[in-house]
Amino acid sequence: MQRRPITGRTAVYGILGHPVEHSLSPLMHASFAEQTGVDMAYVPFPVAGADFAAAFKGLRALGVRGANVTVPHKERAHEMADALSLEAREIGAVNTLQIRPEGVYGHNTDAAGFMAALDDTGLDWRGRRALVIGAGGAARAILWALGAGGAERIHLANRTLARAQELARHFAKLPIQPIALERASLDAILPGIGLVVNTSSRGLHGEDHPELDLDKVDSSGIICDIVYNPIDTPLLLAAQSKGLCTVDGLGMLLHQGAESFRLWTGQQPSVAGAREILRQWLA
Ligand code: ATR
Repeated sequence: MQRRPITGRTAVYGILGHPVEHSLSPLMHASFAEQTGVDMAYVPFPVAGADFAAAFKGLRALGVRGANVTVPHKERAHEMADALSLEAREIGAVNTLQIRPEGVYGHNTDAAGFMAALDDTGLDWRGRRALVIGAGGAARAILWALGAGGAERIHLANRTLARAQELARHFAKLPIQPIALERASLDAILPGIGLVVNTSSRGLHGEDHPELDLDKVDSSGIICDIVYNPIDTPLLLAAQSKGLCTVDGLGMLLHQGAESFRLWTGQQPSVAGAREILRQWLA
């Protein structure tokens, strides 16, 4: 990838997170910029929790045009933004900041990214019964997206049941049923499930999901994992070996990034080229 020289006119964007050194976003946005010819630099900003407010306020002072916000700052960014998109308000978290003269606009592109990654399968995932595993921060945008897609029912399984119940209360308008992450609970609901999404950090270190019996999932079911390192998690490999359609975490990462890029620059990048670059980087 050819790096364009940074000049006085180059627009600066970046990502605020802690840790941020493993983020693939700088590589991804550099690829989008090259593809579209946008004169921008996208840099990692390692910002610890206690420094977030100062860093947030400093963005405009430095002339930064926009930024992504990642763990652990998405909720604080939601609190601090001057205005919020509908998704950001309802999800309760912000992953994209647009910095404008009149104020900082908070957006959440994780939900749109998830929906676009599912749309890439060419299968109709909307309106199906879903099982979501994990009730942490990453589950919020997924639940919102499933609601927007008209999920008939969303079974939300979490190791700590109270967190699933708390999220069901937050999204009171959605048809969410909190359940314990146990074999018996999952066995009872798996027949008829059209979509399984892992939003937990299980799989990051090669762990599988012993409670989940994929033989009970309908053959038209879609199995999705938001973990993208490794790209082929044990869950996705097991699903593929059973002939099920799978969606990996890179799809969601790329599409949320493309949506942030579009909000900032007005240009819609294609994710295919960037996917290959990220794939090679992770290999
Ligand atoms: P994030 O913001 O990335 O979602 P988080 O808020 O810490 O991170 O949530 C991580 C999720 O992964 C939670 O649902 C967590 O379950 P608990 O609420 O019971 O902690 C889940 N998780 C993490 N490690 C897990 C494991 N080994 N088995 C099952 N669930 C796990």
